[in-house]
Amino acid sequence: MRRWTNLALFVLLGLAFTTGWVAFFYGTAPSRVSLIVHAASGYAIIALTPWKAVIAARGIQRRRPGWWASLVFTGLVIASIAAGILHSTGLLTGVGAISAMEVHVGAALAAIPFVAWHVMARRIPVRAVDLSRRSLLRAGSLLAGAGLAYVAGEVAVRLLGLPGSLRRFTGSYEVGSLQPAQLPETSWMFDAVPAIDPATWRLTVEVGGTVREWTYEELLAFDDRVRATLDCTGGFYSMQDWSGVWLSRLFASFPSPARGRGQGGGSSVHVCSLTGYDRRFAISDAGRVLIATRLGGMPLDPGHGFPVRLVAPNLRGYWWVKWVTTITIDELPSWWQLPFPLQ
Ligand code: HEM
Ligand code: HEM
Repeated sequence: MRRWTNLALFVLLGLAFTTGWVAFFYGTAPSRVSLIVHAASGYAIIALTPWKAVIAARGIQRRRPGWWASLVFTGLVIASIAAGILHSTGLLTGVGAISAMEVHVGAALAAIPFVAWHVMARRIPVRAVDLSRRSLLRAGSLLAGAGLAYVAGEVAVRLLGLPGSLRRFTGSYEVGSLQPAQLPETSWMFDAVPAIDPATWRLTVEVGGTVREWTYEELLAFDDRVRATLDCTGGFYSMQDWSGVWLSRLFASFPSPARGRGQGGGSSVHVCSLTGYDRRFAISDAGRVLIATRLGGMPLDPGHGFPVRLVAPNLRGYWWVKWVTTITIDELPSWWQLPFPLQ
């Protein structure tokens, strides 16, 4: 049972980590599917506590080198799970500027080096017996129990009328929809708001080696509109009215040979911010992505991406590049990027 418990924890930690990121990657239904597996794996980890406590108690008594690192690791796992549950139930979605979701993901990220060390330093042999009928039955009942715990949790949140019953399928909470002044200003990780002078700023669009520069005034003349939901991985969402110009319209102003080159094979649209933050889109998405100059009919605030930002409906917030300066169609495929930015 000891080895089985550690092995199960190993699998469950990996599952929780992966499904968390998969949920972040999608702004549509697969996000919920992934979060159901995610929550269930979290509950399964909790369910194994009594067995793991016995293992840990013995390990601590033995004072093996680095035992304190296992305690730090334990603290991070507890912090992550607690913040996850506080977020999902809505009991505490944040303190000041820090959201429970940020603590949840932050603690999980901080735990990575510790878990890597823990499984190396406390290595367990994996034997054929781990796939025995009894092990598989145990795993089956653990998963079934964890699934039930997820359902029970969701029912309880609704019966008790907790704020968690109001969250979106991505787990995010509504903030200030259709009230532009209420839209929080957030960035993926390290971006700082740049000061941009609209008189000298240009949006450079490059297709097949041909460059066209747009001034802020020129872009303001467009009035394409979309009502879209910004769903931030920090744990909130907000539906707002944006206006500007569809990305595809900026490409339409190019002579067709240049456009034609861009539409070939594996090419994609590379959108880059003044801060160097970038995302790549399939060319077929250009008709659905807006270069926004206005939020609720008013020019953007610096914190929301002034002079122009992307509005990418159905994609999570980290795709909504702010302070856009260059847009290039090149020959790289749209999947040629890290799934999540590093800045
Ligand atoms: C939720 C995840 C986990 C937590 C919170 C956790 C925590 C701990 C703690 C506090 C100890 C005692 C201190 C020490 O000996 O370093 C320990 C020992 C141990 N852990 Fe973990 N652990 C986790 C997952 C795992 C995994 C995934 C494995 C293996 C794949 C593992 C294998 C072991 C082993 C073999 C020991 C030593 C027991 C002994 O010396 O008697 N643990 N763990
Ligand atoms: C060790 C790793 C992790 C564990 C054990 C874990 C566990 C949990 C648990 C127990 C919940 C509460 C679920 C519920 O009550 O419905 C939760 C929620 C959540 N987690 Fe994690 N998590 C981990 C890492 C991550 C990571 C790395 C991400 C994202 C990159 C993530 C994203 C989320 C999201 C979005 C929710 C909210 C789901 C909702 O409200 O429906 N988690 N997690």
